Amino acid sequence: MKRKILLVVSTRPNFMKVAPILARMRERPELFDTCLVHTGQHYDALLSDVFFDDLDLPAPDHHLGAGSGTHGVQTGRIMAAFDPVLIEEKPDLVVVVGDVTGTMACALGAVKLHVPVAHVEAGLRSRDRRMPEEINRIVTDAVSDFLFTPSHDADDNLRAEGIPEERIHFVGNVMVDSLHRALNSLDESTALEDLGLQPRGYAYLTLHRDFNVDVEDRLRQALDAVERVQRRLPVVFPVHPRTRDRIESFGLQGRLAQAPDLRLTEPVGYLDSLRLQKEARLVLSDSAGLQEESTVFGVPCLTLRPSTERPVTVEVGTATVVDLDADLIERKTDQILDGSYKKGAVPELWDGAAAGRIVDLLAERLFI
Ligand code: UD1
Repeated sequence: MKRKILLVVSTRPNFMKVAPILARMRERPELFDTCLVHTGQHYDALLSDVFFDDLDLPAPDHHLGAGSGTHGVQTGRIMAAFDPVLIEEKPDLVVVVGDVTGTMACALGAVKLHVPVAHVEAGLRSRDRRMPEEINRIVTDAVSDFLFTPSHDADDNLRAEGIPEERIHFVGNVMVDSLHRALNSLDESTALEDLGLQPRGYAYLTLHRDFNVDVEDRLRQALDAVERVQRRLPVVFPVHPRTRDRIESFGLQGRLAQAPDLRLTEPVGYLDSLRLQKEARLVLSDSAGLQEESTVFGVPCLTLRPSTERPVTVEVGTATVVDLDADLIERKTDQILDGSYKKGAVPELWDGAAAGRIVDLLAERLFI
C-alpha cells in the first residue's frame, strides 16, 4: 500500500528545501502519495509566492493562514489549524525542514497525534538558546523519528543529546539540490543589469535576524559597519519586511542616506538571489541559507552573527563569523578585495543529490 506523506512549508528558507524532496517523491507515485501544507507564517508575495514559481512548487493542498504574531500566538495558531489537516489526511509521515516556528509547531502537532516525523536539516546547534531557531531545532529533533543531517557536526550534536543512532541519517544538504537545479535558469535573472552592477563589483547584504534588527543599538552598529564597506564597493541590500519596519520605527532612514553606495531593494526571488550571490565579490549576511549558498559558490561570506549552527561553512567553506564588529568586517573586506582571504571548499555530500538519499531511505524504512 502507498504511503501518504505530508510535507510542510512555512517561510522563505523552507521552499527550496522541500521542493527537491517533493519532486523525488512524485517520481515514485507507486510508493508515495504526497500532500503539501503551507502554514502561512510567511504570506507576502515577495517572501512566498515568487518562490513557488521559481522552484516549480505545486500550489499547497492546505493553507493554514497562520500569519505573523508573537512566538506563542504563531505556534498556537499553526498547531490549532494543523490538527484537522492531520485528522483528515491521516498521513503515514510528516516531513518538516529547517528551524522556523512552523517546523516545530507541525512536528509537535504530528507527534501528539502519533504520526511519525522526519526532520530535514536536523542536528544543527548554535548553542545560543536565546535564538528562537535554536529552541525550534532542539524541540523538533527531540520528537522526530527520522533525523536527516547536512553535516557530521550535526550527527555528533544529536548523539550528545542521546538520540539513538538508528534515527540519525547523514544525507548532505538538500538546499544544494535546488541550487544545482536553478543554475540552468540563472540567465533568466536580470538582477545585475537592473541594478547596474558588474560581476565581482559589489557586495550582497541581507539582514533580518531579531537579535540584529529588533535592538536599535545592534541595527545602528550593523549600518555603521555596512557604511564602511560601501566606501570600498557598492552594497546591494534587499530588505526583509521585518528590517524595513525596524529601520522606520527607529528613524534610521537618515543613517542610510549617509551611505550613498548602499542600494536598498525589495526582497528578491530565488533566482535573483542566487545570481546576486554567485556574481558578488562578497556576501554579508545573518541568513543561514546565504551562508550555505555562498560556500557552494565559493564566494566569501562575512556572517553577521555572534555564532553559527553551521560550523562547516566556516571550517570547510568560505564563511567567517564576524558578528557586527566593524573593524573586523573592514579588515576581512580588505582581505577579500586584495585576494588574501581564505579559499573554501564544498562540504561532503553537498552534491545536489541529498533529496534522492532521503527518499531512498524512506522508501526502504516505511515499507518494512
Ligand atoms: C522567520 C524565521 C527565521 C528565518 C526567516 C526567513 C522564525 C522564528 N524565524 O523570521 O528563522 O530566517 O523567517 O525570512 O521562524 N512579515 C511580513 N510578511 C511576511 C512575513 C513576515 O511583513 O510574509 C513581517 C511581519 O512584520 C512579522 C515579521 O516580518 O511580524 C517577522 O515575521 P516572522 O515570521 O515572525 O519571522 P521572520 O523574521 O520572517
